Amino acid sequence: MIIHKFDSENSILNKFIAEIRDVEIQKDSMRFRRNIERIGEIMSYEVSKNLHYKPSDVTTPLGIKQIDKFENNIVLCSILRAGLPLHHGLLNYFDDAENAFISAYRKHTTETEFEIVVEYFASPSLDDKILILADPMLATGQSLISVFEGLKNHGTPKEIHIVSVIGSQTGIDNIKNSFPNSVHLWIATVDEKLNDKGYIIPGLGDAGDLAFGKKL
Ligand code: URA
Repeated sequence: MIIHKFDSENSILNKFIAEIRDVEIQKDSMRFRRNIERIGEIMSYEVSKNLHYKPSDVTTPLGIKQIDKFENNIVLCSILRAGLPLHHGLLNYFDDAENAFISAYRKHTTETEFEIVVEYFASPSLDDKILILADPMLATGQSLISVFEGLKNHGTPKEIHIVSVIGSQTGIDNIKNSFPNSVHLWIATVDEKLNDKGYIIPGLGDAGDLAFGKKL
């Protein structure tokens, strides 16, 4: 896996990451969603440097300019519901991407143990496309692994990129073993550890609840 991590370089990205972690600023859920979306926009720009371009001519009112045109068939795939703001940020820039949505949730078998249940799949064909999997919190990596297994029924992408905001080293190590070596992981920052419930520490808490409210 080719890993691109952004937290060692100072940039405006770090302000947005600090804000989504901050227990006071988190109270403003609109700001939380918008910050994740802004992170998605910045990550799109970074991913775009690694994508494909074809020389072409653009006709302006006054002449013709040769440019390298962005030519990529992208499928953006996110896990409901926490992935939605990140998905939206990526889609703001990759605006002609196709979209796939999957529901995956942690079904607890005990207080500290859970399995990932994947139920809803809505995906176009992935054959020869660039698959961008968005997962804001790469905790154990189990959701991404389950989703990737399910997506195999929808075709074979020519490239896979995973975009994540906060990860744990455990999660990264787990997905490394389940995805091909050619996969790119674009991750804003990596935290020290997971707690016994599989939450990233210090992390930010529950991204789905912070964006959309608590669930039963
Ligand atoms: N999902 C979250 O929302 N937060 C975590 O820390 C881990 C998974």
